[in-house]
Amino acid sequence: MIETVVRPPRVEEQKAFFEVYETGIPQVDSLTFDGFSRWWNRSRIMGDLSTLWRVATVDDRIVGVAINAVLDSLSWGSIWELAVSPEWRNTGIGTRLVQESEQALLQRNPRLTHFSIGVKVHNSRSLPFVERLGYGIQGLVLRLDGRATRSASEPPLELHMARLEDIPVVLHLTTDNYWGPSDPRTLEYSIRGGNCYSLTDSSTNSIVGFVRYEFDNDQADSTVISFSYLKGYGQAVVDCALREVSTEKAIFWVQDKHEDIIDHLYASGFRKVEAEYLAKKRVPRLE
Ligand SMILES: CC(C)(COP(=O)(O)OP(=O)(O)OC[C@H]1O[C@@H](n2cnc3c(N)ncnc32)[C@H](O)[C@@H]1OP(=O)(O)O)[C@@H](O)C(=O)NCCC(=O)NCCS
Repeated sequence: MIETVVRPPRVEEQKAFFEVYETGIPQVDSLTFDGFSRWWNRSRIMGDLSTLWRVATVDDRIVGVAINAVLDSLSWGSIWELAVSPEWRNTGIGTRLVQESEQALLQRNPRLTHFSIGVKVHNSRSLPFVERLGYGIQGLVLRLDGRATRSASEPPLELHMARLEDIPVVLHLTTDNYWGPSDPRTLEYSIRGGNCYSLTDSSTNSIVGFVRYEFDNDQADSTVISFSYLKGYGQAVVDCALREVSTEKAIFWVQDKHEDIIDHLYASGFRKVEAEYLAKKRVPRLE
C-alpha cells in the first residue's frame, strides 16, 4: 500500500510544484514559469499558499498538485487547478487532492455554499472523474478571440483610468464570468495593478462599465479583456473596451448566461477558441 500525504507546499518546492503542474497541460491552463512564479509569490504573501494550495506526496516527492481559491462574494470554494503526474494517475491521488482541497476551502471560509471546478470541454476524461465526486455541470465559459477593430464612430461611453473610489459602484456591476472581481479586495488589487478603466455614460454621468486589460508574454499580439457592466450596457462596454486595445487581437472569457454579448462578439467576427464547463456541488451540511 503506497502512503500518500496531502499537505501545503513548502516555499522551496516551487519548481517541483510547477513540474507536476505542467504534466496536466493541455487539461490545465498553460502557464510560463514566470507567470506561475508571480502567482506563487502573490499567494505566499497573501497566505493562500499555506491555507489553500495543496500537494500530494509519496516519500516526500510531489506527485500531485491543487491550487484552490475562495470566491468570497459568491460563497464558493474553487478547485482552480488540479494535476497528478501521469505515472501516478488512477491510484486515488486526484480524489484525495479534491477531498483535502474541499476541507481546506471550508476551513478558510466555513460559510461556503458550493465547491466549483472548471473542466475544459476537450477534457472528456475528467468529466466522469468530477461527476463521481458529486460535481454537476451548471454552465459554460467560452474563450472568444478576434481582431480588435476600432469603429470610426463616436464611442458610446467615456473611458477613464479606474480609481479606488469607483469600487463601490463597480461592485454592483455584472461580471463577464464567475471568477470576475466582485469583492473589494480583489478589485483594489486589480486597480492598483493598473490597466483598469471605468466607463461612464455621459448622459447620466454614472459608471456603467469596468474593464481590465491583461497582457501575456506568450501571446504578445493579444490583450485579454475582462469586464463588468450594468444591465443594458453590455455591448457598449465591449465595443468601448475594444477601441482602446493596443494589440492586434483581443481575447474574452464570457459565461454562457451573457447570451447577448456572446451573440454580439460572434457577429463582430470573434470565434470560440476553447471552452470550460463550470462544475459545482453544494457543500454538504450536517443537520
Ligand atoms: C484528472 C486527474 C487529476 C485525476 O487524478 P487521478 O489521480 O488519476 O484520480 P483518481 O485516481 O483519484 O481517479 C481516477 C480514476 O481512477 C480510479 N481509481 C481511484 N483510485 C483507484 C485505485 N486505488 N486503483 C485503481 N483505480 C483507482 C477512479 O475510479 C477514477 O475513475 P473515474 O475517473 O472513472 O472516476 C488526472 O487524471 C490528471 O492530472 N489529469 C490531467 C490534468 C487534468 O485533467 N486536470 C483537470 C481536472 S478537472
